[in-house]
Amino acid sequence: MTSQTTPSQLRSRAWFDNPANIDMTALYLERYLNFGLSLDELRSGKPIIGIAQTGSDLSPCNRHHLVLAERVREGVREAGGIVIEFPVHPIQETGKRPTAGLDRNLAYLGLVEVLYGYPLDGVVLTIGCDKTTPAALMAAATVNIPAIALSVGPMLNGWHKGERTGSGTIVWKARQMLAAGEIDDAEFIRLVASSAPSTGYCNTMGTATTMNSLTEALGMSLPGSAAIPAPYRDRQEVSYLTGKRIVDMVWEDLKPSDILTADAFHNAIVVNSAIGGSTNAPIHLTALARHVGVDVPIKTWQERGLDVPLLVNLQPAGEYLGEDYYRAGGVPAVVSQLIGQGLIAEGAITVNGKTIGENCRGVEIEDEKVIRPFAQPLMDAAGFVVLSGNLFESAIMKTSVISEEFRNRYLSNPDDPDAFEGPVVVFDGPEDYHHRIDDRATGITPETLLIMRGAGPVGYPGAAEVVNMRPPAHLIVDGIHSLPCIGDGRQSGTSGSPSILNASPEAAVNGTLALLRTGDRVRIDLRKGTANVLLSDEELAARRADLEAAGGYAYPASQTPWQEIQRAVVGQMGTGAILEGAEKYQRIAQT
Ligand code: FES
Ligand code: MG
Repeated sequence: MTSQTTPSQLRSRAWFDNPANIDMTALYLERYLNFGLSLDELRSGKPIIGIAQTGSDLSPCNRHHLVLAERVREGVREAGGIVIEFPVHPIQETGKRPTAGLDRNLAYLGLVEVLYGYPLDGVVLTIGCDKTTPAALMAAATVNIPAIALSVGPMLNGWHKGERTGSGTIVWKARQMLAAGEIDDAEFIRLVASSAPSTGYCNTMGTATTMNSLTEALGMSLPGSAAIPAPYRDRQEVSYLTGKRIVDMVWEDLKPSDILTADAFHNAIVVNSAIGGSTNAPIHLTALARHVGVDVPIKTWQERGLDVPLLVNLQPAGEYLGEDYYRAGGVPAVVSQLIGQGLIAEGAITVNGKTIGENCRGVEIEDEKVIRPFAQPLMDAAGFVVLSGNLFESAIMKTSVISEEFRNRYLSNPDDPDAFEGPVVVFDGPEDYHHRIDDRATGITPETLLIMRGAGPVGYPGAAEVVNMRPPAHLIVDGIHSLPCIGDGRQSGTSGSPSILNASPEAAVNGTLALLRTGDRVRIDLRKGTANVLLSDEELAARRADLEAAGGYAYPASQTPWQEIQRAVVGQMGTGAILEGAEKYQRIAQT
């Protein structure tokens, strides 16, 4: 249970009302007065609430938070708090080079310093675009002051010629159409642009919808709030309620460590399978768990998540988009179905002070085409398979996006229906792939497994979303729309590619992927969870000796100071790709 905080115990009092240190108190006060706050306000014993603002012109997905923050302010004021809004390092998933993945830990670091080093009693975390959500949650977990997340919400549904066009998902489809000569460049851009009709984040079940849904499932945002589309009036209303609630959370001393328990993570893993969530989720939730000091090994995703059916019919695994998800009941309707099967730890406490069971039990599905009842899922056992073998210690595969075509071609061996095997073609980074994919000399056949390496947290600093590789144009024309892909990078949550990704350790730290050569044979057994290159230990050892003699796997030089700093301390994706060393700083607001 949480304790109660009295006005004199507010941490902001150390700045603004500290008789033992009147010199510094005067100094702190005079500067926060200069934009119009009064002495009375600052010394009234009211909680100071930060709004961690992730929206800006550089971050279009989160930009609507600039508007929503006004309603948050009204809520905070009405509940008796004072607002101090501040910027968070912007992260735009699609706009940041070389990859937005590089900036998650940077935004985390920056926010830790702000939450720890300034007079804040509680914080509203404005979340949305892929990496903004984990960065904010991770920082709040480390500092451990009362915190509540506010999603910006998805965009409205995209439409083109009467069909839903979903963020990202349409890009993968349009690329194939362009490669096959079915559309020209102008139509390609028109088609992709149609998927973005309003403010908000990606309207598909990509990493943004996933992470915002999981934030609610973890208990870190108000029940029912994650799925509300950005432009809806309900989004304004929940912003106001979020502002009101954080003030009470400060008085109740309800902190991230009270909410982010092992039960909360287990609930989120189950929900991730049911929603068809992104393969980025294990990276981010592992990172969050480590920063709050909860042990959630990567294998947990298979143990708790694999057998959970897919209930949410959103692209890329299904057909609908964000507005439909909200109308069908959003996260509470999904959680309610899972509660009915005993799959949710109902006692996990959430930001509204109630348990997830109290919040979600009995919530009805409003449209069963979009959110299926547990008894009629879109797919059984739709979670992630966690693989290991001589190729890597861990990698994951999202089973809910394995197509019929893929199942028929690769999983139809009658002796061992879950194993497939083939020769590999190896690409060193996305540039190499783009350069050679359509060249027939590359030698890709329908049996080929495509390997992407040099794309991990060290190799392509931050880990690029590039493992989902389309087949060469000549195979697409022949009707082959997917080949198995394996890589040490990530994959966009909006992609339906049958990929084995997040492979750890990556090539850049001399993981086995660095030893692969085009033509080697690789065997994958999904039921056993194994992935092996069919080479002897002696051959692998000899290749490793050669690689080390040559100075290790070569990757591009750092282009910025942060790339170099992160490369020196970042861990692998199987353990969250956090800044190793940062983990020991936990609950620092209390120390
Ligand atoms: Fe920002 Fe998808 S690019 S949410
Ligand atoms: Mg993404």
